[in-house]
Amino acid sequence: MGNAVPIVSSIAGAGTIVVMIALIRRCRVVRKKMKKKIIKHVMEEIEKKNHQREMQACSALDDVVIEIGPVEKFLNEILNEKPMRFTSEQLAACTRNYSSELGSGGFGVVYKGELPNGLQVAVKVLKVSMNKKVQEGFMAEIGTIGRTYHVHLVRLYGFCFERDTKALVYEFLENGSLEKYLYGDEEVKPPRLEWNTLHGIAVGTAKGIRYLHEECQQRIVHYDIKPANILLTADFTPKVADFGLARLGERENTHMSLTGGGRGTPGYAAPELWMALPTTEKCDVYSFGMVLFEILGRRRNFDPCRGESKEWFPRWVWEKYEQGEIKYVVSCDGIEEADREKAEMMCKVALWCVQFQPAARPTMSNVVRMLEGEMAIVPPVNPFHYVSVMDSSSSTSSGLWSGTHQSSRDTAGRDSELSVSPAAKSTDAMIGGVKRTDASVSMKESL
Ligand SMILES: Nc1ncnc2c1ncn2[C@@H]1O[C@H](COP(=O)(O)OP(=O)(O)OP(=O)(O)O)[C@@H](O)[C@H]1O
Ligand SMILES: [Mg+2]
Repeated sequence: MGNAVPIVSSIAGAGTIVVMIALIRRCRVVRKKMKKKIIKHVMEEIEKKNHQREMQACSALDDVVIEIGPVEKFLNEILNEKPMRFTSEQLAACTRNYSSELGSGGFGVVYKGELPNGLQVAVKVLKVSMNKKVQEGFMAEIGTIGRTYHVHLVRLYGFCFERDTKALVYEFLENGSLEKYLYGDEEVKPPRLEWNTLHGIAVGTAKGIRYLHEECQQRIVHYDIKPANILLTADFTPKVADFGLARLGERENTHMSLTGGGRGTPGYAAPELWMALPTTEKCDVYSFGMVLFEILGRRRNFDPCRGESKEWFPRWVWEKYEQGEIKYVVSCDGIEEADREKAEMMCKVALWCVQFQPAARPTMSNVVRMLEGEMAIVPPVNPFHYVSVMDSSSSTSSGLWSGTHQSSRDTAGRDSELSVSPAAKSTDAMIGGVKRTDASVSMKESL
């Protein structure tokens, strides 16, 4: 019995140890299993999270693709020199539902907009009615305009051509049109531009038109050169707007109609446009001459408030020039002594540009040379003989330029073409080289 107690206790001790070992083992196994489970769970969580992140990234990427898709397309199309086609929804979005109006003209209203890449644009929503032929012409013109780039031409980025929305999307020019700076605004007076800036605007505009006439692949006659179609960048670099739109057909009655096929604006349109005679790029030279007068005078050419002698500025300039008082013209306009030579040159170029006979007007490349002082300017001849002829056949010459008597102008125009004064014809003879004087020889060279 005495031995039995230690034996039992040692067996119990050994049993306890075995159980303990078994328990420890079990614990280890369980811990291992737990650990595995935890690791598995953690891994699953991580995977889940990664997957979620991936999914989020993918959808974010989708958003980005959706966002940058049109921009990339836009950039590609620009690289391919192709105007982009916009939907009406895209235009509504980029103009914030046409909320900011920049102005309006014969074709419709122009709105400010912004493309998804932040590029500012001007959207011209066209109001013109288009038959099938005009539509075809429009699409052809889009191709031409969209491929015409020059530092002095407003860039066409794209267009919209849907049943209810026809629009053109142009680059946006911060300083708007030259018109605003020449005639001012009743409410907001724009800053007065320095003479040098105005001269730079004249030269830049001439270069833009020269490019259209002489340098681009397909010659383009603008038909509507005027201060409203000369737009200015933030640093007053001029860019010619609305070229290539002549084929859009009839516009509202602010424009020439009947004879001119809706082309040109009264006061700037060359006589051959409103007389329904054949037209050439020299129409633009005439209109540019009228713009030069307005730059010189910082006023509208026709202004009934100025008193009869100055009512129509171009003729007053001619009269002063003829009387040898051109200095008086430039001093009247507040042009500083140092700039007067350039201003006198501009007067003479303007007088040549508005010659009645298209052939007597210089080409735009020579206009540029004359304005830049690289070519001597022959003394101009009277551009307004035909106005005297019309004075006798229509009530006043001023009606011709004010845009108030379009139909009588047409009749007057036709009459005068039949009876153009001998003096006007002699200009042509001289310039055409039939009766050439020394002066006309050098002028002919300049044409
Ligand atoms: N690209 C542009 N950037 C900034 N402003 C513009 C742009 N295009 C037009 N505008 C503004 O909108 C006004 C109206 O332009 P619009 O071309 O419709 O008329 P217009 O030039 O007076 O006549 P027209 O129909 O003969 O061209 C301009 O005078 C100018 O102030
Ligand atoms: Mg315009």
